[in-house]
Amino acid sequence: MQQDMIVVIDLGSEENSLVARDIRALGVYSEIHPHDLTADQLAALPNVRGFVLNGGPNHIVDGEKIDISEAIATAGLPCLTIEHTGKLPCDVEKLPTDEATRRQILSDFVLGTCKAAQNWNMENFINDQVELIRRQVGDRKVLLALSGGVDSSVVAALLIKAIGKQLTCVHVNHGLLRKGEPEQVVNVFGKELGANLVYVDATDRFLDKLADVEDPEQKRKIIGAEFIRVFEEEARKLDGIDFLAQGTIYPDIVESGTKTAKVVKSHHNVGGLPDDLKFELVEPLKMLFKDEVRACGSALGLPDNMVYRQPFPGPGLGVRCLGAITRDRLEALRESDAILREEFAKAGLAGKVWQYFTVVPDIRSVGVRNNARSFEWPCIIRAVNTVDAMTASVERLDWALMEHITNRITNEVKGINRVLVDITPKPVGTIEWE
Ligand code: XMP
Repeated sequence: MQQDMIVVIDLGSEENSLVARDIRALGVYSEIHPHDLTADQLAALPNVRGFVLNGGPNHIVDGEKIDISEAIATAGLPCLTIEHTGKLPCDVEKLPTDEATRRQILSDFVLGTCKAAQNWNMENFINDQVELIRRQVGDRKVLLALSGGVDSSVVAALLIKAIGKQLTCVHVNHGLLRKGEPEQVVNVFGKELGANLVYVDATDRFLDKLADVEDPEQKRKIIGAEFIRVFEEEARKLDGIDFLAQGTIYPDIVESGTKTAKVVKSHHNVGGLPDDLKFELVEPLKMLFKDEVRACGSALGLPDNMVYRQPFPGPGLGVRCLGAITRDRLEALRESDAILREEFAKAGLAGKVWQYFTVVPDIRSVGVRNNARSFEWPCIIRAVNTVDAMTASVERLDWALMEHITNRITNEVKGINRVLVDITPKPVGTIEWE
């Protein structure tokens, strides 16, 4: 990779990612690195043209004020110092919160002072990665758990481009996917992109394990553990796999690897695989932010509804079919969710609302249908907006649209005779119900 790079030094600011993204938006590559970067680590980074030293509220760790390492201070590269008064006696600027001014300051520094070349774009990224993947993998084989989510789909597309049939994708359908999802994975990857795809319909296996299990945590545990078991069984059937590809993205690395963050989240992708399955990892998206992952997927020709899809939890519909899952109620959930998604798309809300779905609780109420008494489940609509999923606000839905959706769901979905809307923000409710 030959592109110029600006290094954002992590001094505990919560804005590091924002700064790195703003720099990348200028077409200049940027990475975040710890404040105690050694001379060797710095020498290993290609084409560093400057540093952004961004101080912040977490710059005191274990009672000590953290400062940049000698290697950074003596590198002789331009530094933009924002709210940090450490080794370098530079001008201390406060990074303005308004976007336009912040971008202007960064642009003046990156393009003016550092004279960094603007060669960070998806085409170059994809070409670089294809080259790096080929170099890493050689003529060996790679395995990928392809869920159909954005990250694993983009990894699959990139690896297919780089190594074609040396990649085997395993798609485990746990029976808790949304309507049309397993079919789309088979169509896009198995047919259009010609991938080596192992499709496992494990619906019965999962639903049998989940029968009569009411506790949400227990349900999640069963789904997670069973997923690993099925994937492991498939992996053992394959010969001579040396690598496991993962859809790790940059926020996973920044959030788990920082030395200054107060809350360190641990991220697992295919966590918990047994020790005797020994793989080297291939993680080609590990330097991309989410929006860049989507851009990469689009550049590789993946369909918009795959690349721009809303977040979907690993346990899938399992956490929305409340209490003990039954097949008929799961089907009602899947159908109502499909109607909601279709109507949101028609109303132009699909790219606008962050996450929206239906929930079907394990209760029934009395109604009238065809002049006769009905005794059926309600369906709950949840539509929320958020930046980081830690807090969320509720989308104010149009009343006429809700009436229309209610009409469709109660008429078209077997077993639903009422529609409710959840208007609870997070906190106090979580986004999911279980
Ligand atoms: P909560 O319900 O905690 O959800 O407010 C926050 C966001 O995380 C998603 N979510 C999950 N994602 N595995 C995932 O990959 C999970 O087990 C899981 N549980 C919740 C949820 O859909 C929301 O976007």
